[in-house]
Amino acid sequence: MECTWARHWVNESFAAVAVSGFVPTLAPTVEEISDIKTAVSEAVTNCTVHAYKNTVGRIYIWVGIFADGLVKIRIRDRGCGIEDIAQAMTPLYSSDPGERAGLGFAVMQSFCDKLAVRSVVGKGTTVTLTKKIESKERC
Ligand SMILES: Nc1ncnc2c1ncn2[C@@H]1O[C@H](COP(=O)(O)OP(=O)(O)O)[C@@H](O)[C@H]1O
Ligand SMILES: [Mg+2]
Repeated sequence: MECTWARHWVNESFAAVAVSGFVPTLAPTVEEISDIKTAVSEAVTNCTVHAYKNTVGRIYIWVGIFADGLVKIRIRDRGCGIEDIAQAMTPLYSSDPGERAGLGFAVMQSFCDKLAVRSVVGKGTTVTLTKKIESKERC
């Protein structure tokens, strides 16, 4: 599945619901769907509030389903990029500390099995979330 979203706060929940609507082929539990929605929502929020701060842009989402119930979700923007990825991923770090808690990446990490972040300053950021769906019966 691939889709593109305009930068707008309402699209955080739309994007999360769209992605979670794609994984039922793996028969996930309600908790697994909720984990995916939470992580996707954090990543899309970051595109809106950081990547495209004071500007407009598009958010690209790709979802792939792999063997053994692995779901990969890639959220990409063409915004400002991240200068220091390690610092950005440190829990409680925020470049906007008055407004944000600095826990978005920590939330993505705890709700998914793997988090990868690639970024080029001035070009944009790609966040890849990997989640294993541990369901018993799969079609
Ligand atoms: N898509 C992005 N584009 C640019 N910067 C980002 C992006 N995602 C995260 N960041 C940077 O990483 C920091 C940490 O992100 P996060 O853990 O979600 O905390 P918060 O959003 O509360 O600041 C942000 O403050 C921001 O500087
Ligand atoms: Mg955040």
